[in-house]
Amino acid sequence: MYPQVFSAAQQVDKAFLIIFGFAVLVLLAVTVAMVWFLWRYHYKRNPVATDIKGSVLLEVVWTVLPLVIVMGLFWTGWTSFQAMRSIPENAMVVGVEGRMWSWKFTYENGKTSSELVVPVNRPIRLELTSRDVIHSLYIPAMRVKWDLVPGMDTEAWFQSDREGEFDIFCAEYCGLKHANMITLLKVVTQEEFDGWLEGTPDEPGGKPRGLALMEEYGCFDCHAMDGTADVAPPLDGIGGTDRPVVLPDGTARTFKANAAYLKTSILNPGAAMVEGWGDEMPPYEGDLSEEDADAIVNYLLGLDESGNPLAAPPHP
Ligand code: CUA
Repeated sequence: MYPQVFSAAQQVDKAFLIIFGFAVLVLLAVTVAMVWFLWRYHYKRNPVATDIKGSVLLEVVWTVLPLVIVMGLFWTGWTSFQAMRSIPENAMVVGVEGRMWSWKFTYENGKTSSELVVPVNRPIRLELTSRDVIHSLYIPAMRVKWDLVPGMDTEAWFQSDREGEFDIFCAEYCGLKHANMITLLKVVTQEEFDGWLEGTPDEPGGKPRGLALMEEYGCFDCHAMDGTADVAPPLDGIGGTDRPVVLPDGTARTFKANAAYLKTSILNPGAAMVEGWGDEMPPYEGDLSEEDADAIVNYLLGLDESGNPLAAPPHP
């Protein structure tokens, strides 16, 4: 079981255990009663039918007792629901965008990230949107699972009482790469968080900007860099001369991409699709600036920021 690091998680677990425990009790009681009735009222032991007149007492008991039990179960669910839905006023706001098939977290200062990084012991308010289909943000350790619906703003919150890394999943089937729509929640100290929030995304590891952007935008969830094709064409050496490509239907063809083609493929894939590939890729126009798109194109073509060839061929 995932650790409990969020106070409202205790409420959720309590409600789950009470309802589950009660369901097991009912299962046992019904099974025992059924077996006993089978034996007790077998026709060999009861050759003559009995005319039963009914019992007011029994009827009252089996009406009132379940009513009390169901109201009790409702109460445990309702109180934990309240805890999960009452977002503290002072919560830090993080925008969460789901897209096929990656996550984008946007902070109040405009910084974006593909991982959710938050300070410890601070309530976090997640404002959820989707740019294509229905996704569901699932953070088991925080007992948070909430849908992201296109055209609708939803929200969730949590507060972690310890540092650590926790899984984030998509819990709503959203297409071919649904299972790959995973990322991390990183809970760090306030100082670490402040440093991270102010840092630029290009710095870690001195990566080329184009590569850092492709990782941030989840390009490699679908596109490989080793020549293999799954749901999307491989991108290694895509600017090379007459690169052989095998389409999903098995046909082979050669293919050469130039900068303009690559840029269109990123910003408005529908206008540039290579035949045979699906149209699953969402358009990044409006999400990715022209500059960022150019950085990715330069990286894919094996060029540096100023358009000069890189020393090593691009490979993540
Ligand atoms: Cu997004 Cu499943």
